[in-house]
Amino acid sequence: MAERRKRVFSGIQPTGGIHLGNYLGAVRNWVSQQDLYDNIFCIVDLHAMTLPYDAKGLRARTLELGSILLAAGIDPQRSILFVQSDVREHSELTWVLATLATFGELSRMTQFKEKSKGSERVGAGIFFYPTLMAADILLYDTDLVPVGDDQKQHIELTRDVAIRFNSTFGDTLVVPEPDIKPVGARIMSLEDPSKKMSKSDPSPASRIELHDSPDEIRRKIRRAVTDSGSEVRYDEANKPAVSNLLTIYSLLADLPVSEIEQRYEGKGYGAFKGDLADLIVEQLAPLQARLAELTADPAQVMRIMTEGAGRARAIAAPKMERVRAAIGVGLPEID
Ligand code: AMP
Ligand code: TRP
Repeated sequence: MAERRKRVFSGIQPTGGIHLGNYLGAVRNWVSQQDLYDNIFCIVDLHAMTLPYDAKGLRARTLELGSILLAAGIDPQRSILFVQSDVREHSELTWVLATLATFGELSRMTQFKEKSKGSERVGAGIFFYPTLMAADILLYDTDLVPVGDDQKQHIELTRDVAIRFNSTFGDTLVVPEPDIKPVGARIMSLEDPSKKMSKSDPSPASRIELHDSPDEIRRKIRRAVTDSGSEVRYDEANKPAVSNLLTIYSLLADLPVSEIEQRYEGKGYGAFKGDLADLIVEQLAPLQARLAELTADPAQVMRIMTEGAGRARAIAAPKMERVRAAIGVGLPEID
């Protein structure tokens, strides 16, 4: 009998567009691995509520992100694409896992520490964020979670909580593995190579958005910081900014860094940056064209995601029933 395909699950927050870091660190890998696995991709709107947000615009951002993921190549024939809040079991399992995760563990999460720092009012949602993410993953018997490097700690926590559940209530949950690529898992800001490229950076020039126009892309790359010297050479310690641009070039051109270094030997940063901008424009063009088509047909995108929610629910609901039986909530079964 053929072995069961590995189940992949990953999520992304509808916090407005996606940037080159999201694309190279996560989404592009989801798309390229679709044939290898049994895939589920989720737009995590409940996670987007963990920091102050605009409720009126959330549904529009959720739909927009659905269109972007489809334009990037998520294929509904091979993958389930759905909205987290459409499958209520995610919220239910979160509570169960919150009773197993410890206060100490959740307090140690880097993201919690960073996002709660300096705020006067810290909602408990940002504290419980990793238990919601664990619920997303564990509801679907996930084997592999393809993400960027910043999510590693959350997946470790998911594993610890799953192992704790199994030893407390009996073997019920599949313990997942992270799938973090050695290259591209941490794309840095164009303005400060010590910070990761992030949606929450107040400066739009720090990131390339997938829907940026060719002019915007060229301007951002031209203005991107570089390091002292003029040599296009990969050296994370001494040339972090150029190394970041080389990583982006290498992934988009599908060329080893050493070949790119050779190509620009003695040519300086200007020529390199000009070509990099062209490369980004060229690689994003087909995606942007598909996005324009999908944006013009929101009903189609909604149909795909509603159907995705149905398929997701068909997996999540029986799983949640098994969890309920294992933890002993509800009434006994009569036979
Ligand atoms: P988020 O936008 O926070 O929901 O992130 C969606 C996905 O993009 C996750 O898998 C992140 O790990 C990944 N990601 C976010 N920022 C970066 C970055 N700067 N470099 C690489 N991957 C990233
Ligand atoms: N926390 C992830 C991020 O910000 C998004 C996410 C939510 C996720 N649930 C998930 C990623 C489940 C992988 C699996 O990037």
